[in-house]
Amino acid sequence: MKPVGHYLQFSDLNHEEYRHIFERAKVLKRRHSEKQLYQPLLGRVMSMIFEKNSTRTRVSFEAGMAQLGGHAMFLDTKTSQLGRGEPIEDTARVLSRMSDIIMIRTFEQSLVERLAAHSKVPVINGLTNEYHPCQILADIFTFIEHRGSIKGKTVAWIGDGNNVCRTWLQAAKILGFKLKVATPVGYELTVLDGEHYGPEHFEPTHSAVKAVEGADLVTTDVFTSMGYEAESAARLEAFASYQVNAELMKHAKPDALFMHCLPAHRGEEVTAEVIDGPQSVVWDEAENRMHAQKALIEYLLLGHQYD
Ligand code: CP
Ligand code: NVA
Repeated sequence: MKPVGHYLQFSDLNHEEYRHIFERAKVLKRRHSEKQLYQPLLGRVMSMIFEKNSTRTRVSFEAGMAQLGGHAMFLDTKTSQLGRGEPIEDTARVLSRMSDIIMIRTFEQSLVERLAAHSKVPVINGLTNEYHPCQILADIFTFIEHRGSIKGKTVAWIGDGNNVCRTWLQAAKILGFKLKVATPVGYELTVLDGEHYGPEHFEPTHSAVKAVEGADLVTTDVFTSMGYEAESAARLEAFASYQVNAELMKHAKPDALFMHCLPAHRGEEVTAEVIDGPQSVVWDEAENRMHAQKALIEYLLLGHQYD
């Protein structure tokens, strides 16, 4: 019996486990495209807790569980007892007696950790203020599909030093690539938990041009993440010169890919020309949330026991 393993941040799995999950994601994606039934999770249930909005995360987990033969149910703060103050520890105890796996999207990472500490089943982080591991799982799977191994490559992050950016940095260390991060002053990426990243993995700057020089992948995100809406006017001003546009893309490698976790704001963090242009792989990236997460769920619930 595999011990309960949670996926609360990207650093919860190692290089070898990622190699396995990316290989399985490829197999599951092919099977899905060939309309082959593969239902190892018949009768298994995922509880999904959403304290923030979502389109991709909800649909990819719900569709993925159905395709694997299981079921996913949606809970939010408004209609569950979480919104009336039931402690997360009690919620964890109850949900893990009725479901096989739990996914949560919330504000503080510490809440996800408390949930996991009181859950008898695996817990997956579907985004917190601090991290978005499922996104980077899909993004790296997408990079591998288009360009092969990400080891030794250069990824440029432009904009906010946020949850998605911080997860890219964890991935850089585990999978052996360099992350160059360009942020305005005051919005730099802060490294948590005393983690250390050497210059071979992390190059912070305030120059967007410097960050994209030599990049194999250019990526960005909204200027204002969920939960920070009160700062949006100040952020629009601070991030004005951190837009990914055709001029900026010229400084990256000629075959550099463009990614965005979505939702996007054309005309703010990225121009329509770039996100809808030939270097953009954002639709593959969104679809791959489902394939990569199916492989993740399979690994957390079945380990290496699958067909
Ligand atoms: N990228 C992402 O997590 O999208 P949603 O907010 O729509 O789930
Ligand atoms: N950084 C964004 C990602 C949305 C998928 C947010 O947290 O709102």
